[in-house]
Amino acid sequence: MTSIITSTQEEIAAMRIGGKILADVLAHLAMMVAPGVDAASLNTEAEALIAARGATPLFLGYRPDGASSPYPATVCVSINDEVVHAIPYKGKIIMDGDIVSLDLGVRYNGMCVDSALTVTAGVVPARTQKLIAVTKKALYEGIAVVRAGARIGDIGHAVQSCVEREGFSVVRELAGHGVGHHAHEEPMILNFGKKATGELLIAGMTIAIEPMVTSGDWRIKTDEDGWGIRTMDGSLAAHFEHTVLVTKDGYEILTEA
Ligand code: MF3
Ligand code: CO
Repeated sequence: MTSIITSTQEEIAAMRIGGKILADVLAHLAMMVAPGVDAASLNTEAEALIAARGATPLFLGYRPDGASSPYPATVCVSINDEVVHAIPYKGKIIMDGDIVSLDLGVRYNGMCVDSALTVTAGVVPARTQKLIAVTKKALYEGIAVVRAGARIGDIGHAVQSCVEREGFSVVRELAGHGVGHHAHEEPMILNFGKKATGELLIAGMTIAIEPMVTSGDWRIKTDEDGWGIRTMDGSLAAHFEHTVLVTKDGYEILTEA
């Protein structure tokens, strides 16, 4: 419970550089998303762009506790009802009207950063645009309460209020997390909760805040490959994530261009 991990100035400097690299690569991938594009080509491009910038993929070969197999790709490409962690299989083609979540992690000078975003391919209905916009807004409202002395529940409360105000749902069984020396560290950052509850944020902590939001119910199920996670009711899901440094007076978003 109390193993709060903070980073040194040198480690934070590495995460700043890694974060810029990640933001740049993710922006490139987002621009590639269009009807007819193969998910595997996004993965190939991600690998090339990361290597060209002197970083290494964080998710490739990553095996969290309890996972039956290591993750086989560099970027997660989750389409429509897929919430997160979907594998970018060759022949998985993005269609007109799809929403596509890209989740990417890189390691630079030993330090890890993690970020995700959702974009559209072609034309989508207004309510779908709204789902994406609200998920992004929820991430930034969650980030806005970050400062030394705030609590994890403040973040969850900010995210949940933003999402539910608009009639959408937050996924409950997945959460944000500490990140830095490892892809996933303590503390767990729930996307729902009560103000002034949970662990205290301390200056020097680096955390990944990542609302996963659905247009229907929040319940999820795992695909047969053990990785892809989708909504139980088939409703659409969006996902935004940033790695954020906690500071004395606020925060610094490390995975922004
Ligand atoms: N951003 C994802 C998360 O925090 C990272 C997934 S790692 C993977 O859950 F290897 F499982 F893809
Ligand atoms: Co994450």
